[in-house]
Amino acid sequence: MTPARTVTLVGGKGGVGKTTTAAALASAHAAAGARTLLVSTDPAHSTGDLLQARLGDEPTEVAPSLWAVEIDAEATADAHVERVRADARRLVGPEIRATVDRHLDLAKRGAGTLESAILDRLAALLVDDAARYDRVVVDTAPTGHTLRLLAMPELLRGWVGGLVRQRERVRGLDRSLANLTGDDAPPDDPVVERLRARADRLTALRRRIHEDAVIHLVCVPERLPIEETVRAEAALREADLRIGAIVVNQVLPDDAEGAFLAARREQQGVHLADIDRRLGHRQVVHVPQLPHDVRGPDDLAAIRAALAAAGLPADPQAP
Ligand SMILES: Nc1ncnc2c1ncn2[C@@H]1O[C@H](COP(=O)(O)OP(=O)(O)OP(=O)(O)O)[C@@H](O)[C@H]1O
Ligand SMILES: [Mg+2]
Repeated sequence: MTPARTVTLVGGKGGVGKTTTAAALASAHAAAGARTLLVSTDPAHSTGDLLQARLGDEPTEVAPSLWAVEIDAEATADAHVERVRADARRLVGPEIRATVDRHLDLAKRGAGTLESAILDRLAALLVDDAARYDRVVVDTAPTGHTLRLLAMPELLRGWVGGLVRQRERVRGLDRSLANLTGDDAPPDDPVVERLRARADRLTALRRRIHEDAVIHLVCVPERLPIEETVRAEAALREADLRIGAIVVNQVLPDDAEGAFLAARREQQGVHLADIDRRLGHRQVVHVPQLPHDVRGPDDLAAIRAALAAAGLPADPQAP
């Protein structure tokens, strides 16, 4: 059985059942009495639909002991860029403001901006608010993004560190000029302080994920999702992250009748054997395909039952 960790990340290719699995795990934790937060980082935000609740950028209580939040990465990124703009306006002369504005407007849509906004919100929920919840389950965006996201605290920290050093060099120059002219040294730099604070929070987020998180990978018994899962498993292992179960969703139940379904089941059998062969060193959990989409408490209970039969989520009392 996978040992309990306070943070659970659910990853996998698009459309395989990450949101469904994350919601089922979170509701199981809550039903066991743990104060649980379900976090969606997925821009499509299907968690609200699934739980039949209106969710927003701040946690909303959706059931006893269960809170859910859909991170609004765009709003977070916009707010961040506006803070930088306000800082910049204090620091630069009017002649280059238009250039700075153009640069910041581009940055709003730049690669990595949304990802770093998601990291900022995750840091707030997983680090700053750590004491509020016993369990946090994070429903991540499709695998490629997730991996980048998990690698990013390091990338970002390097980038932020470079900016701090650059800024301090400029400040050092300011100071020696001030000394030469007999002026007082300028007060502490708010921009450097903010960059440092951000780098520290990202380091704390990285530590929290490395120390407290287990990652379950969801896939379906088809060729391409299996290939992607094998790659993801290797990359996560390489990054020294703790991998939990391989959740194989949409497995046709044995009692599904008809020649067509029998043929599909046989094909799935080939893929399931492939999963066992290539990922069998992990716990492999099968979740049956329901006759309809998963929506609302009864459907979630069916998914929960399949996970529970395999011991997921792990007993909250376990070490
Ligand atoms: N076991 C299942 N049986 C029947 N339908 C399912 C099952 N699991 C998921 N679904 C349905 O498949 C669709 C995709 O599931 P889900 O939203 O959980 O996937 P996802 O990996 O989060 O997708 P995305 O990558 O778009 O965020 C949904 O309509 C969901 O209701
Ligand atoms: Mg989803």
